[in-house]
Amino acid sequence: MKVTVVGAGAVGASCADNIARKQICDELVIVDIKEGFAEGKAMDLMQTAQLEGFDTKIIGSTGDYSKTAGSTVAVITSGIPRKPGMTREELIGINAGIVKTVAKIILEHSPNCIIVVISNPMDTMTYLALKETGLPKEKIIGMGGALDSARFRYYLSQAIGCSANDLGAMVIGGHGDTTMIPLTRLATYTGTPVSQFLDDDKLQKVAADTMVGGATLTGLLGTSAWYAPGAAGCAVVEAIVRDEKKMIPCCVYLDGEYGQKDICIGVPVIIGKNGWEKIVDIKLNDKEQAAFAKSADAVRSMNNVLSTLSI
Ligand code: LAC
Repeated sequence: MKVTVVGAGAVGASCADNIARKQICDELVIVDIKEGFAEGKAMDLMQTAQLEGFDTKIIGSTGDYSKTAGSTVAVITSGIPRKPGMTREELIGINAGIVKTVAKIILEHSPNCIIVVISNPMDTMTYLALKETGLPKEKIIGMGGALDSARFRYYLSQAIGCSANDLGAMVIGGHGDTTMIPLTRLATYTGTPVSQFLDDDKLQKVAADTMVGGATLTGLLGTSAWYAPGAAGCAVVEAIVRDEKKMIPCCVYLDGEYGQKDICIGVPVIIGKNGWEKIVDIKLNDKEQAAFAKSADAVRSMNNVLSTLSI
């Protein structure tokens, strides 16, 4: 079983590190365009094998996709990250061309591959990868909801003073500072609604902090975050490779579900060996449904920018 990670930058390396340590595959290929960079990251990671106790073979390659042949899953992290003050959407001009090229080359070498998209603006990059490759919709998954939901659990755990592992919480909608929708009404602390522990003001603050979670880190780090994005990418890969049938909010193609068509956006899906296997139709209230429609409008207008780019 082979997994490929494209992009050996911070997010790609974090994703690869998690995949190796969890022994999700026998062979892990890291590809990057920068001469020697992927080889270096692969060697550095391989030198943690004995320390971490894993046997995954890690191979680095400068742009030679023949090494990725036969991959079950490929994670696309390539492109530029945002700088403080930038939105994810501002990256579209550069990242669209990169994601389009990478998605096509991956499939030339691994026609049955499932693609996990991390590059930003993630919803639009997922849509682009789907349209450009013509892959069945189940085989293209944007990981945004996995990351945003982990951040939602972090902020909830800080506010309640509890373990993030005791929380069930989901973020749906777009992976943008103003488009994501933390579902506070449905969040639970060991089976109990979080509203029993946090008043409305506190819950609203948790939701607001979650929405700008990535921007907060970009401000602190000077570039976008990598540990949680890498771990979220790995969680999606793991659910596919181990056929876990986990429910994870991810960016997938909607064809009428949640009242939306011809768009990739975050909704709860079941992830298994076939990619996303089912969209889970949770009942949203009117306010949540309206927020979802507004989020979809914003994602759709970003998708419309694609046709103005010469890529
Ligand atoms: C973030 C980027 C990776 O949210 O989208 O940190």
